[in-house]
Amino acid sequence: MEYNSKVWRDFKFQKHRNFLCLQEYSPEEIEAIIKVSEQMKLWEMLGEEHHVLRGRTMAMLFQKPSTRTRVSLEVAMYQLGGYALYLNAQELQLRRGETIADTARVLSGYVDAIAARVYSHRDVEELAEYSSVPVINALSDFSHPTHAPAVFMTIKEKLGRVKGIRYVYVGDGNNMCHSLIVVGTKLGAEVVVATPEGYEPDSKVIEWAEKNAAESGGNFELLHDPVKAVKNADVIYTDTWVSMGDEAEAEERRKVFAPFQVNRKLVMHATPNYLFMHCLPAHRGEEVTDEIIDSEHSAVWDEARNKLPVQKAILSLVIP
Ligand code: NVA
Repeated sequence: MEYNSKVWRDFKFQKHRNFLCLQEYSPEEIEAIIKVSEQMKLWEMLGEEHHVLRGRTMAMLFQKPSTRTRVSLEVAMYQLGGYALYLNAQELQLRRGETIADTARVLSGYVDAIAARVYSHRDVEELAEYSSVPVINALSDFSHPTHAPAVFMTIKEKLGRVKGIRYVYVGDGNNMCHSLIVVGTKLGAEVVVATPEGYEPDSKVIEWAEKNAAESGGNFELLHDPVKAVKNADVIYTDTWVSMGDEAEAEERRKVFAPFQVNRKLVMHATPNYLFMHCLPAHRGEEVTDEIIDSEHSAVWDEARNKLPVQKAILSLVIP
């Protein structure tokens, strides 16, 4: 197969694009990411070289820990024929007070893209403002846009479709929840979110969700009752109750979120062939029990696996 296959080239985003939040991408562009991911996965499985970013470089500026996102991005860049440099923010001059703006100006002179994992979403926006190369959000406190396409790619593989499925997120209205709401409503799913009172998704994301659903023929519903939410679910998704940066509230959160645990009693309300999904790392015994994450319904390993082709798709579409 040719390196620059038609599928990949046909969808290449034409103008300088940052990848900060999927609300800025159309349903067709998100579908293109999934399509190109499928192509990348095929190349991986056939063992065929796919050096579509030969000689390109990417800086990976990380303020917080990462396992899946870091490794999938680094391996993706390598397998695309490029090179990724992992930069722990603590070891850069940022730590000694160099500004994000200056860091962005300098890094863009060396590399073709910057991926950043930050505490405050504002940091990744600022990097993008001052960078002359595309900036990819590798997780901020607001969103996790490189992960959400892997979720919907996995759902497509397992259930054959996304449109019309009852997609239920149970837990904290956090970064992961935001990105899943955005993609789910853009792709026409019936998205249901159940959080404790006071832990709802950002009001801006709720507005987007309603607008997206009206345009795609999907639906969005916000509830506070996990049992009602999970009724007839095709997919049950959860994430940690204590995201990176929320550690000071850990004790309080574990109490508040206890009724939202995904366990045997809760999943009884879902469809018989429901999928359980989680971006990982899982806190077994907190947001999900061993019994559920290790069950035949669990798609978490496929979801994690699909991050590799998805990162490749994002990089190949975004990096000029
Ligand atoms: N919501 C989690 C996701 C980790 C991949 C966090 O921000 O810590």
